[in-house]
Amino acid sequence: MTKHFLDLRDYNKESLVGLVRRAIELKNGKKPKIKPGKILAMIFTKPSTRTNVSFHVAMQKLKGDALYLGSNALQLSRGETMGDTAKTLSRYVDAVMIRTFSHRDVLDLAAASSVPVINGLTDLLHPCQGLGDVMTITEHKGYDYDNIKVAFIGDGNNVCNSIINAAGIFGFKLTVASPKGFEPKKSILNLMQEKNKDINVTNDPTVAVKDADVIYTDVWVSMGDEEEEEQRREKFGRFQVNSTLLEKAKKDAIVMHCLPANRGEEVTDEVMDGPNSAIFDQAENRLHSQEAVLEYLLKK
Ligand code: CP
Ligand code: NVA
Repeated sequence: MTKHFLDLRDYNKESLVGLVRRAIELKNGKKPKIKPGKILAMIFTKPSTRTNVSFHVAMQKLKGDALYLGSNALQLSRGETMGDTAKTLSRYVDAVMIRTFSHRDVLDLAAASSVPVINGLTDLLHPCQGLGDVMTITEHKGYDYDNIKVAFIGDGNNVCNSIINAAGIFGFKLTVASPKGFEPKKSILNLMQEKNKDINVTNDPTVAVKDADVIYTDVWVSMGDEEEEEQRREKFGRFQVNSTLLEKAKKDAIVMHCLPANRGEEVTDEVMDGPNSAIFDQAENRLHSQEAVLEYLLKK
């Protein structure tokens, strides 16, 4: 069966901890173990800085290459099916990474592909971000996940869903604070709460950050939500990660943001550039954790 990386829930804790350990080894200079010359096709129907550049650089570090295929580069834009696209690309490349709107499209692409498919973000999930995030948490707080408390402040979006999945699998405590109506998806939450009883949701950010080791936030308006921009800005005002909120967490709490950030909205400059910020370590770790994923998917 073809291996894919579509959803953290497709993996157990042991495999994901293995990927985190490997990512840290690769970051520390260990050499990857795959044959040179592998090619990754990267389909993007939404913009990207980190995912695009980190996957491209990871492929170059693996002595392979990556093809950037933007919105209009493929016949997908004229209605060719995900299935036919997958069957064709499988004849040319060794793996496909896709960032798009519909999660269903990614599942359809993977179902028809005979090479590994990687989910580079959908409206539902961002598993590569989730893995890189756990790597960052591990570097700063260690592997004793049961004793780590994470607060996610803001929108119950794709990034939030993936951190919920990570909490369910790795076992860290997680409290999500979202405005009413913007809580994470029940379907994701319920399943992970069965695995980890320390996953909670509140509408009060100060409750969430109490005793937190990690404060995580993301934009209030994700790609595809632009029509709701005005309404969201009104509702999310109380959910800014600023120094007043940070003071309510543990003294050595780290602040995380998947980026890109809207400075002055969900996070202040002071916090983003302050001593507690692990935000650019987190951005860097996308590279190392994806290198570990690519090595795992591409080795025989
Ligand atoms: N965090 C993240 O996925 O960033 P990009 O949108 O720049 O890829
Ligand atoms: N939630 C954001 C994440 C960007 C990496 C979005 O989907 O736009």
